Amino acid sequence: MDIYNGNILRKLLKDADQGGYAVPMFNYTDLWDQMAVIEAAMELHAPIMFASIPKTVNAISPEVLGAVGTVQMKKAASPIIHHLDHAKSVELCIAAIDNGYPSVMIDASDKNLETNIAMIKNVVEYAHTRGVFVEGEIGRIKGRDYEATYDGDDFLARVDDALRLVQETGVDSLAIGIGTAHGFYDGKPEINFKRLKEMKEAITVPLVLHGGTGIPEEDVKKAIRLGINKVNIGTQIRYTYMQSACRLIQEKGPVTHTIDIMTEAKEEIKKVAKAWIRICMADGKAEADLKGQEIQYAES
Ligand code: 13P
Repeated sequence: MDIYNGNILRKLLKDADQGGYAVPMFNYTDLWDQMAVIEAAMELHAPIMFASIPKTVNAISPEVLGAVGTVQMKKAASPIIHHLDHAKSVELCIAAIDNGYPSVMIDASDKNLETNIAMIKNVVEYAHTRGVFVEGEIGRIKGRDYEATYDGDDFLARVDDALRLVQETGVDSLAIGIGTAHGFYDGKPEINFKRLKEMKEAITVPLVLHGGTGIPEEDVKKAIRLGINKVNIGTQIRYTYMQSACRLIQEKGPVTHTIDIMTEAKEEIKKVAKAWIRICMADGKAEADLKGQEIQYAES
């Protein structure tokens, strides 16, 4: 299977749109949580994306992560896509593309619309000549670092801006700020479903929901029904990983072999990933596939 370009992902997201489900994307920080989400996907025969944020790439290097990601995609029985999540610079996207990532996100949503468009255009130009998929972002996905600077509906993506961005950049998918936040929520997130519906009516590229952790299951499913094609989950994977590893080290003691601790921690992460795969996929066409049959995707 040719997995070294963005065409497989284009097809996965199109299938998801037609089937009424979403492809889950999980952030990993190292090999253990990366293996956990991939094994979860293989056991459920589900397509997923596994993604590194810049903090992870800077700590480990695009060369190492790109090489490992490529091997993982190659040996997987069903399609999984390695992705660079939330890159803040064109240079980091280029480094990921040069090291085999088939999909990158350039996140310039904190800049003005013109700069956001210009940066996405730069990445698209480089990526598309190499067959790589590009995600952009509009509106703001809230996060603890800059939440305080939001006023009223400041974070909400505007439909006319999104339409202009998609038309001028040729971006492949779009993350939209509709009220979700990265990390745990203090209360229930206020998702603006009306804006999501308006976006879906106006925008033809797949739409992405960030900030999966802490969104109630019924809200994730409603967002998917209204047209979200990809759901990002990060904090809950990391939290489960740290919590399990801490507990296991406490229980077994630090003389226990690393492999014995981490293999058990991996199982805990897998349970979380499987629950998310079911939330994202079980309401749509993929339900039948998840009950036993492998999901088949044509080679691109
Ligand atoms: P959470 O950390 O809130 O799950 O969000 C992850 C995310 O959106 C990564 O892009």
